[in-house]
Amino acid sequence: MRGKFISLEGGEGSGKTTAIHFIRQWLDDHKIPYIMTREPGGTPLAEEIRQLVLTPRDESVNDVTELLLVFAARAQHLAEKIQPALDKGTWVISDRFLDSSYVYQGKARGGDIAMLDQLANWVVGDNKPDATLVLDVPVELGQERVVQRQHQDRLDKESFAFHQKVRDGFLERAEADPKRVKIVDASQSLESVKSQIEEQLAKLNEAWAGDC
Ligand code: TMP
Repeated sequence: MRGKFISLEGGEGSGKTTAIHFIRQWLDDHKIPYIMTREPGGTPLAEEIRQLVLTPRDESVNDVTELLLVFAARAQHLAEKIQPALDKGTWVISDRFLDSSYVYQGKARGGDIAMLDQLANWVVGDNKPDATLVLDVPVELGQERVVQRQHQDRLDKESFAFHQKVRDGFLERAEADPKRVKIVDASQSLESVKSQIEEQLAKLNEAWAGDC
């Protein structure tokens, strides 16, 4: 049976690293074969593209350039890593995927959504995530965590208003597709975040078991 594809999304400083740790624990406990990956990136070439996208630079980065780079990385990632794993029945957990493009390049940068839809159909096709967990935190809290980081990337350095649009964008994605996109309140205690994630994974696993 084809593996399940779960993406993890959220704004800067939403606690994805900790969430990934909880997800790993749950998958290990349930003896589910999986790979963890991330976007932009996930393969050597896609990781090189990640550097192009995220490195702070003096030259201003054109919005279309940024959009095409994230989709170029995604095409490589899908072909070389995600599809082969799913075909083998392995679950794929990706730290970010397509929703980030709609939110960052679409909502926050004001990109053309019809163009994003076309790229999504062309590059991703039917390989959309089966489920998406969005870690939601108020922008103030996310920003507090980001300023403590030693290295801030080009997108971390965007304005408060940009990050507010990112948060709103993810909440809108969840509202538009509540069956797939689940919100985790990541402003709560670690125990609460852990149990929210475990609860979502258990529900998904139960629903998918019923699909067989
Ligand atoms: P992160 O892995 O630390 O969250 O950094 C990845 C950054 O890349 C984050 O700021 C969001 C951004 N990004 C996009 O702008 N578009 C995309 O499609 C993806 C996958 C990520």
